[in-house]
Amino acid sequence: MLGLIWAQARDAAGRPVIGAGGTMPWHLPEDLAHFRRVTSGRPVVMGRRTWDSLPPRFRPLPGRTNVVVTRQDGWAPGGAVPDGAPSPADVGTPVRVARSVDDALAVARADAGADGEVWVMGGAQLYAATIERADRCVVTEIDAVVAGDTFAPSVPAGWRADAGEWATSSTGLRFRTVAYLRS
Ligand SMILES: NC(=O)c1ccc[n+]([C@@H]2O[C@H](COP(=O)([O-])OP(=O)(O)OC[C@H]3O[C@@H](n4cnc5c(N)ncnc54)[C@H](OP(=O)(O)O)[C@@H]3O)[C@@H](O)[C@H]2O)c1
Repeated sequence: MLGLIWAQARDAAGRPVIGAGGTMPWHLPEDLAHFRRVTSGRPVVMGRRTWDSLPPRFRPLPGRTNVVVTRQDGWAPGGAVPDGAPSPADVGTPVRVARSVDDALAVARADAGADGEVWVMGGAQLYAATIERADRCVVTEIDAVVAGDTFAPSVPAGWRADAGEWATSSTGLRFRTVAYLRS
């Protein structure tokens, strides 16, 4: 199972914003908890810019293999396990570096459980490169207008949408989760 997971607000033109200036232009702790629940124990695949967007103290994301995609020769985050190396249990959370999206998905699937569940966690370049082969998208919709420079992909036509109830965050933001399933 390949899933894409993101959170989006919207800009003044109604476009689905996922990022601004290399970060997410909102603070929604409930969404971070939701992201952790969905992806814990599952490999996550991200573009190098999304890796860079994570505060250093929060990366690698614990309890799941982190796969970072980059075209840069020799790029390595601190503590990375070289591509192709075994992932010994005693290294803690493994970070894998892949030079292509196909390699990233193969590396992630090798570390997935029996169900093969893998999550692409952004950003826009990675969503665009993987949505055509995804089985589901789990989207947190945030009811806010923000300025942004990075946008969510379009979910392909015909997918089934399963929308949750709107809730209000401790920060005051309204949000809900919509799961899109390939039919
Ligand atoms: N709202 C959300 O849920 C959410 C989630 C994630 C991220 N974001 C936001 O999204 C923004 C980042 O997204 P982004 O689209 O700019 O960048 P991105 O997709 O995170 O990363 C792009 C980078 O990935 C590498 N890459 C992309 N395609 C590749 C390919 N086919 N083969 C090899 N490497 C490839 C390249 O790295 P190199 O340049 O190193 O070669 C490229 O510069 C940030 O603002 C972040 O906060 C939001």
